[in-house]
Amino acid sequence: MNFRHLIDYNDISGEDWAMLIDLANDIKKSPNRYTSECKTKVMATLFYEPSTRTQLSFQTAMLRLGGQVIGFSDPKNSSIAKGESLRDTIKIVSGYADITVIRNPIEGAAYAASLYSTVPVINAGDGSHLHPTQTMTDMYTIVREKGRYENLTIGFCGDLANGRTVHSLAKAFSYYKNNTLYFISTEALRLPQYIINLLSDSGNKIYIVDSLEEHIAAFDILYMTRIQRERFGSVEEYEAQSGIYILNSEKLKQAKDDLLIMHPLPKTDEISFEVDDDPRSKYFEQAENGLYIRMALILLLCENYGYKITPPVYPMPQRRFCSNARCISNHERYLPEKIKRSGSGSLCEYCENTVLN
Ligand code: CP
Repeated sequence: MNFRHLIDYNDISGEDWAMLIDLANDIKKSPNRYTSECKTKVMATLFYEPSTRTQLSFQTAMLRLGGQVIGFSDPKNSSIAKGESLRDTIKIVSGYADITVIRNPIEGAAYAASLYSTVPVINAGDGSHLHPTQTMTDMYTIVREKGRYENLTIGFCGDLANGRTVHSLAKAFSYYKNNTLYFISTEALRLPQYIINLLSDSGNKIYIVDSLEEHIAAFDILYMTRIQRERFGSVEEYEAQSGIYILNSEKLKQAKDDLLIMHPLPKTDEISFEVDDDPRSKYFEQAENGLYIRMALILLLCENYGYKITPPVYPMPQRRFCSNARCISNHERYLPEKIKRSGSGSLCEYCENTVLN
């Protein structure tokens, strides 16, 4: 296996992904074979943001593998409330747990955590940036339902600016070719440019559009998303964007009989309740699939336990700061400068979609 932490779905090679799918299928088919696989292991779940599916499915996954779980779901109940840094929190948790799952509202937080952790770190969502285990859940569901990752027409609809599940899933399709991807949103909630650039270079066709109705007939998969209320600066800004895209039975009359309707959940008003009963809706199965693929991920990462890390050395040279106010490097100022090349430019390695000052 070629990855030690899971920060971005695109860290996983094709071979490792195939192995994870096989393992998840076997766990789903024969769960009793796996009940003691992690019986000496402890998983820490550090949730700085609310969660139902990700937190509970990770906890259930470890319990079903025979392991134990520690952690918090509200940082106010931890020493973070007293001002403890992410670095110190992670160093301490590394001494208690064999694997750490972290959700944080700041972009790049999981990657920053991985720099200081002696145990595997799994990104359970870092602000508006990425949500790789949701992408594993989505890609696992797609291959089970459609049997392929190429020659698909997919509509992504909703809050494409702030929705980390869309960012991760769209990036995942840059691995594959010959897909037609429609990104449906208002002008204010378009997909970040760095992901459009990545996809444009990958041999897939991309359309940035406003209307769901105009294109729904073409889709093999429709990935609906919630307008991310918690990412807006004011109630007024959120209300200006909510209620614009609503999937209902009327619109689905135009869609293919074998359309796969997905949603990372939670949903609010973007899918009418009657659509839940449409056999094409698979979002509840999708959420359940997340349990099996997370069990597979925990198993593989725990098997690789025991590696050494090379944390940043201090004092470090003066660094430049990311221009994205929501980047972890602006919140935890001791972090080292991290820049990666992308096409002809440079990206901040923590949050990706920014330039440096
Ligand atoms: N899909 C997802 O991340 O759901 P939760 O926020 O409930 O974990």
